[in-house]
Amino acid sequence: MIVGVPKESYPGERRVALVPGVLASLAKAGLQVVVETGAGESAGYPDSEYLDKGAKVASREEIFATADIIVQVLCYGSNDKTGRSDLALLRSGQALVGFLRPLGTAETLQEIARTGATAFSVELMPRTTRAQSMDALSSMATICGYKAVVMAADTLPRIFPMLTTAAGTITPGRVLIIGAGVAGLQAIATARRLGAVASAYDMRPAAKEQVQSLGGRFVELPIEAKDAQDARGYATAQGEEFYRKQRELLGEAVAANDVVITAAVIPGKTSPILVTKEMVARMAPGSVIVDLAAERGGNCELTRGGEIAVEHGVTIIGAFNLASAVPYHASQMYAKNVTAFLLNLVKDGQPQINEADEIHRETLLTRGGEIVNARVREFFGLPALAAKGA
Ligand SMILES: NC(=O)c1ccc[n+]([C@@H]2O[C@H](COP(=O)([O-])OP(=O)(O)OC[C@H]3O[C@@H](n4cnc5c(N)ncnc54)[C@H](O)[C@@H]3O)[C@@H](O)[C@H]2O)c1
Repeated sequence: MIVGVPKESYPGERRVALVPGVLASLAKAGLQVVVETGAGESAGYPDSEYLDKGAKVASREEIFATADIIVQVLCYGSNDKTGRSDLALLRSGQALVGFLRPLGTAETLQEIARTGATAFSVELMPRTTRAQSMDALSSMATICGYKAVVMAADTLPRIFPMLTTAAGTITPGRVLIIGAGVAGLQAIATARRLGAVASAYDMRPAAKEQVQSLGGRFVELPIEAKDAQDARGYATAQGEEFYRKQRELLGEAVAANDVVITAAVIPGKTSPILVTKEMVARMAPGSVIVDLAAERGGNCELTRGGEIAVEHGVTIIGAFNLASAVPYHASQMYAKNVTAFLLNLVKDGQPQINEADEIHRETLLTRGGEIVNARVREFFGLPALAAKGA
């Protein structure tokens, strides 16, 4: 059984799907890894390290032609720039594992399905204890939360820690996090480590305890979201009236902070605007906003996707694909997640899809030329597939 690792082709992408450190456990399960020449180079893993661990190095065409399973970080779907060129290389029955943006557009998913590939989307990983080691979304969110704070600290014309020096006292930086999911919680922890005073707001009441356990102050707003989280633990979309009230109430907190990190997203939906241009104008000049929701429209009205904007003296960082900016550890975490997934998928050296295993069932996106995932079909209003054998 051959696992192929093509070099990532999304412009500026520096991650790689498997790192040399996971090859031994894959080999033990009968999986031979073939990586594209230079695939790990920009993440800090030269070809020689893969070769030392028993991998082969080959061309992209050879990898797609020989591998039984292709693993990528950004597959076509999430790679909307250059990913389409992989479609012609995929074979019917070939397994594909990676970020596929399953709630993106149905047409893109149909294109992937038509190749006949058996595609597994890591975004659809169930949030269960058993699947925790395979949760790539959480891994990448952890990296993004960390990097957002480091970028903000680097941009802010102030330092984060409180200092009492012969040259006077410096007050600590104030960091507000809006959206305390995995990324937001890592941002709190990182801001605190750098010496800032961190506070956070989330519409899910369950987030309060998590924020406080990291030493953050929880910002309470006198509004309550309706059914704030779904069964999977994700936030649910709210009405415009709720968001309007949120913006009104968040104004004071935003103005009182030097850095605002926004990470409030709803799966498959455009992100709610929680920081308006008026709120930005009330921040002190030199303040920084890092909008981690930028790829999904942004939580700040003045965010320019993929760019850094300066408005009213406030720097608004709308970076895309932030995890790629920490490629060594992002790749290491992703590789661990994918390896755990592959070891659960492969039995006796062959991928064996077991519909009774919720990890297989929920991540399986396309098979036999069709989009087969029930949740995705429902999301796009596609008719449910007839039960097997019917
Ligand atoms: N294996 C597991 O059980 C597992 C794995 C990962 C995450 N989780 C949990 O799932 C939850 C969601 O985490 P995530 O990082 O995937 O979330 P996410 O990336 O989907 O969303 C980020 C955060 O934004 C918040 N948000 C959305 N709209 C908002 C609004 N209008 N105002 C304020 N906040 C808003 C959400 O509540 C969420 O906390 C967390 O509690 C996390 O700890 C569990």
